[in-house]
Amino acid sequence: MAVAARPDLALELERARARTLELLAPLSDDDLTRQHSPLQSPLVWDLAHVGHFEELWLLRRVGGRAPLGDHDDLYDAFRHARSERGALPLLGPAQAFRYLADVRAAVLELLDGLELDDADPLLAGGFAIGLVVQHELQHRETMLQTLQLREAPLSPLPPAPAAPPPAGELRFAGGAAAIGGEHPWAYDNERPPHEVELAPFALDARPVTNAEWAELVEAGGVERPLFWRPDGTRVRFGHVEPIPPDEPVQHVSWHQADTFARRVGARLPTEHEWEAAARLAPEAFGGGVWEWTSSHFRGYPGFRAFPYREYSEVFFGDGYRVLRGGSWATDPLVARTSFRNWDLPQRRQIFAGLRLARDL
Ligand SMILES: [Fe+2]
Repeated sequence: MAVAARPDLALELERARARTLELLAPLSDDDLTRQHSPLQSPLVWDLAHVGHFEELWLLRRVGGRAPLGDHDDLYDAFRHARSERGALPLLGPAQAFRYLADVRAAVLELLDGLELDDADPLLAGGFAIGLVVQHELQHRETMLQTLQLREAPLSPLPPAPAAPPPAGELRFAGGAAAIGGEHPWAYDNERPPHEVELAPFALDARPVTNAEWAELVEAGGVERPLFWRPDGTRVRFGHVEPIPPDEPVQHVSWHQADTFARRVGARLPTEHEWEAAARLAPEAFGGGVWEWTSSHFRGYPGFRAFPYREYSEVFFGDGYRVLRGGSWATDPLVARTSFRNWDLPQRRQIFAGLRLARDL
C-alpha cells in the first residue's frame, strides 16, 4: 500500500535539526573546525557528514537525485580515521551550515510529493527518514562527547545525568524473554525479534553511583573515571565542579566497569538480561548513562544487513561490547528498550557507566 509521507516525518527531521543547531550555536568557527581530540572528529566534520548522510539516503537513494557536490570521499566515515579528519580539506562552518540547509530544503520538497510504499523496505514505515533522523540525533551525542573532551568551559553547561531511582534489586525468575525491536525505525542489529531463555538473575534497580565508585577508589579497588580529579572534583564541559555523590557514574571503560562489578561480588548483565529487565520494569531505566553489558556485539539469529553492511555488520565480533539504555545526552527516540549501542572496551569519553547483576 502506498500512502503519502506523513507530515510528522518532516517534523521529526526538523526537531533533530533544531537540536543540532542549538548545540552548535554558541561555538566559534575555531571551536567548530579544531580537532579537539584524536578520539573525535572536528565538529564541522560531524556537521557536514550529517548533511551528506541525508543527501545520500533521502535525495539520492529515495529521490533518485544527482549528487549536490563532491562530498562522498570526505564524509564517508569509513574512508578516513577520526584522528585524521582535522587535516582534510573539509567544508568550513559557514559552507557546512549552508550545505545542510540546501539538502534539507530539497528533502522537504521531496517529502511533499513522496508516497511511502510499504512494499519497499527502505520506505515502509518511513524507515529511510527514521534512519536519517536517528543518525543526526546520534551524532549530536557524539558531538557532546567531543565538547566534553574540549578544554574551554562550555556555556550553556549541558545537563548532568538524571538522578537515578532509589537503590534496590529487581529479581527475575528466568525463562523465556522477548528480545529485539519491532519499532518501524529499529535498526538491522535489533532484528529480528526473537525469544531467548534466561537463567534466574537479579539486576540493581539503579546504575552504580559516583559515591559507590568513589568508595572503591578510596579502597584501591578501581581507578578514577576519566575527568575526575584527585581532590574530589571533576571537569564537566570545561567546568570544575564537586562530584555529585548520587548521580550515576559515567566516563568509565568496559574494563573498569567489569573490574568494579567483580570487586563488589557482582557482574555486568548480559544485554539480554538488561533488555528483559527493562521491558518488565521500565521505570528503573533511562535518562542516566549508557550501561556496559558483558555481551559482545553480534548479529541476532536470522540477522540480515539493512540497508547497508557498514551500519552494524562490519562491527560484529569480539572487538566491541554492547551498551544498553541511553544517556542524558541520548534522544528518547533513540533510547528505546531494544536499541543496541556498541563501543571499544577501553573507551571512556562516552557517557557510560554500569549496573550490577547477580546470579540467583
Ligand atoms: Fe555517521
